[in-house]
Amino acid sequence: TGAFTIAIDGPAAAGKGTISRAVAERLGLPHLDTGLLYRAVGARVIGGQDPVAAARTLDASELNEAALRTGPVAEAASRVAVMAEVRDALTEFQRAFARRPGGAVLDGRDIGTVICPEAEVKLYVTASPECRAERRFLELRARGAEVTEEGVLADVRARDQRDSARAVAPLKPAEDAVRIDTTALGIDEAIEAAMAAIASRW
Ligand code: C5P
Repeated sequence: TGAFTIAIDGPAAAGKGTISRAVAERLGLPHLDTGLLYRAVGARVIGGQDPVAAARTLDASELNEAALRTGPVAEAASRVAVMAEVRDALTEFQRAFARRPGGAVLDGRDIGTVICPEAEVKLYVTASPECRAERRFLELRARGAEVTEEGVLADVRARDQRDSARAVAPLKPAEDAVRIDTTALGIDEAIEAAMAAIASRW
């Protein structure tokens, strides 16, 4: 098929989102931030719904909400993300997106390992926990959230732990993933590193 799938995985606040959006824009490909699916389910669970029912009835129109970008929703997302039935209910939507003619960029935790194991390019984007917490702290504070650096670091560590330790689709690099550590990279350098890795496989 003509689909060229780029799978970008990694822990929270490593720079996946920024890199994915930039790469998709440069290549003219559609981009799916798969964390939004789990966040949308998490938001519905905070609203009192059953997680599996929420995942099965999720609608793409729910993914654009700014309300999904909060700490409590991220926390709820990582709690529902351990449930196999929730993940199963979200799989086909992601695979259909990946099969779009011409290709697509998907970012998440298990894109290269579970959702799109045949992806033409797999990137695993990381950074130290301290660096990721600092970036997330600045981002949340810029949006007016009342957070502390220590609190954000604790949240990042808790989410890393839950995402890596779960039995179903744990966070880990695919064997054939190109690793990009953004700890010491600026945004432009991280994007260039990603573009270079993609170009080598295109
Ligand atoms: O990437 P983001 O921080 O928006 O993801 C929120 C949560 O959703 C993650 O902490 C993770 O538990 C879950 N997730 C997942 N698989 C994905 C994307 C996100 O388990 N592909």
